[in-house]
Amino acid sequence: MAIRDILRMGDARLLQMAQEVEVFATPELYELVADLIDTMRANEGAGLAAPQIGVNLQVVVFGSEGNPRYPDAEPVPLTVLINPVLTALSAELEEGWEGCLSLPGLRGKVPRHGNLHYAGFDQYGQALAREVAGFHARVVQHETDHLWGILYPRRMRDLRYFGFTDVLVSGRAEATPENSSN
Ligand code: NI
Repeated sequence: MAIRDILRMGDARLLQMAQEVEVFATPELYELVADLIDTMRANEGAGLAAPQIGVNLQVVVFGSEGNPRYPDAEPVPLTVLINPVLTALSAELEEGWEGCLSLPGLRGKVPRHGNLHYAGFDQYGQALAREVAGFHARVVQHETDHLWGILYPRRMRDLRYFGFTDVLVSGRAEATPENSSN
């Protein structure tokens, strides 16, 4: 287990399509998952995707129980999600603030589906399927976007709502970027 360096926006490895995991329950996969969780926690993130530590595989981790950076967010259980398949359950998009450990210090208002079904596998190869809403749905969409090489600014519709967290907090009454870094 180790805390790994996180790639930052501008690194071409963040723009790749990640490959599916084909073999589960291997020491290499366990090590990757452990490193992702350690690195996410060390940075107080709500999620982290393997491409963010330079591993081009469809593996994400997320969870927000007891994280001091977003005390108001509804808790999301610690989850390992591999080879995810997402299905939007609501057509309309909800705007919400997001951060990303690959864009340190920044926040943006990003439209996401409010209700979501997702399926995939854990590191042992056990199938996982959930219907979620709100912050949980947002985190899953943000993390799986990393697997398709998409960083959240590409999802934004209004770049006026993109900026440095400390400036947004002090300078804009309607800006409440309390949400996570993913
Ligand atoms: Ni992110």
